[in-house]
Amino acid sequence: MKNILITGGTGYIGSHTCIPLLEKGYRLTIIDSSVNSSPISILKVKEILKDNFKDELITYYPGDIRDKPFLSSVFLKAKELKKPIQGVIHFAGLKAVSESLLKPLDYWHSNVYGSICLIEEMLKYGCRNIVFSSSASIYESSSFIPILESSKINPSTPYGQTKVAIENILYSTFKSSKNSWRIANLRYFNPIGAHESGLIGENPLDIPNNLFPIICKVANGKIDKLKIFGNDWPTYDGTCIRDYIHIMDLADAHCAALDFLLKNEPQIINLNVGTGIGTSVLDLVNKFMKVNDCKVPYKFSERRKGDLPFIVADNQKLTATLGWQPKRNLNQMCKDGWKWQMANPNGFIDIN
Ligand code: NAD
Ligand code: UFG
Repeated sequence: MKNILITGGTGYIGSHTCIPLLEKGYRLTIIDSSVNSSPISILKVKEILKDNFKDELITYYPGDIRDKPFLSSVFLKAKELKKPIQGVIHFAGLKAVSESLLKPLDYWHSNVYGSICLIEEMLKYGCRNIVFSSSASIYESSSFIPILESSKINPSTPYGQTKVAIENILYSTFKSSKNSWRIANLRYFNPIGAHESGLIGENPLDIPNNLFPIICKVANGKIDKLKIFGNDWPTYDGTCIRDYIHIMDLADAHCAALDFLLKNEPQIINLNVGTGIGTSVLDLVNKFMKVNDCKVPYKFSERRKGDLPFIVADNQKLTATLGWQPKRNLNQMCKDGWKWQMANPNGFIDIN
C-alpha cells in the first residue's frame, strides 16, 4: 500500500481528493497549517468512507511546509514506520488571486519557498513523484479559443507568477536529476461544488472572492446581492465565460494523474484540468436558481481588474493521457455545492 503525502490536505481540493485516493487503496499522510481550512474536514472524509475506512489509513500532521525540521520529521517518521512517502500531491499554498496583488511577498514565500522546502525534503528522502496544483491563471488567454498546454504563459498576477515559478523549479529539478523524477503539473480551471454527501465543501476562512461560494452566500441571505463584474464583455451575454469543473471530477483527475505517474517512466507533464465547456456568469447564476429552486439577486457592476472574458480548457491531452472524463455536469455542481452550503452555512465553524 503506497503512502502519499498530501500537502494542504484539509483544504477544499485536498480534502475532496482524499476520498478517491483512499477508495483506491492509498495510505495518506496529510500536512496542513490550517491557514485556510479546518482539520475537521478529515473527520468528515472518514465519515463519508464509513465502514471502508480504517483509522491507520490517514496520518495528519498540523504544520507549515516551510518549517523544514517539521517537514523532515514527517518524512523520517514515515520511513521509520516502514511506510515511506512514495509520492506527493502538493496542494499547500495561498490562492486568493486579488490578495496576491496586495501581499505579493506572502504569496512568493508561502507558495514558492514552501515548494522549495518540499522538493528539498523529497530529494533527501528519495521521493521523486509529485502532482502539483498549478492553475489556468498562468496563461495569457487573449482569444476565444480553448487554451492548450502549449498556449502562451504570461500570468497577470503574483499568484499566477508563483505557479509558473514552481513549475519552472520542478522542470529544472527534473532536468538536473538525470530525469529520475515523475512530475505532473495539473493546471486547474474553475473547480466548484462539493462532495455529493454535503459533508465536505469549500470552507474559506475569509470572505469568499470566487463566484460560486458568493452565489451560495447570496442564495442563503448572508450576502445581499451578487455583483456581476461587467455585462459588456465580448461574449454571447456580455458576462465572462469560464470552465467550471465539479470538485469530485477534479479529485478523480488527481488520482488518475498519480496512477499514471507511478505506472510510467520518469517524465514531466503539464495537463489542463477542465471540462472544455464554457459557461457564462449569467448562465451559472440562472442554472443555480433553477436547479436549487432559489433566488440569487444580482446587479451588474464594473469589470474586475485583471479579469479576462474567456478562459476554457482544451482538455484533449488530459483525456487522452489519463483516460479521465468529467462525469458530473453543471446541474450536479450547483446541486452538490448548495447541499453543502445548506447543511453548513458557516463552513466547519459550527461543528465540534
Ligand atoms: P485551500 O486554501 O482550500 O487549500 C490549500 C490548503 O493549504 C489549505 O488547507 C491551507 O491551510 C494549506 N496551506 C496553505 N499554506 C500552507 C503552508 N505553507 N503549509 C501548510 N499548509 C498550507 O485551496 P484549494 O482551493 O483547495 O487549492 C489547493 C491548491 O490548488 C492551491 O495550491 C491553489 O493555488 C490551487 N488552485 C486552486 C484553484 C481553485 O479555484 N480553488 C484553482 C487553481 C489552482
Ligand atoms: N465574478 C463576478 N462576481 C463575483 C465574483 C466573480 O461576476 O463576485 C466573475 C468574475 O468576474 C469571473 C467569474 O465570475 O468572470 C469567475 O470568477 P472567479 O473569481 O470565481 O474565478 P477566476 O476565473 O477569476 O479565477 C479562478 C481561481 C484561480 C484560477 C482560475 C483559473 O480563483 O485560482 O480560476 O481560471 F487560477
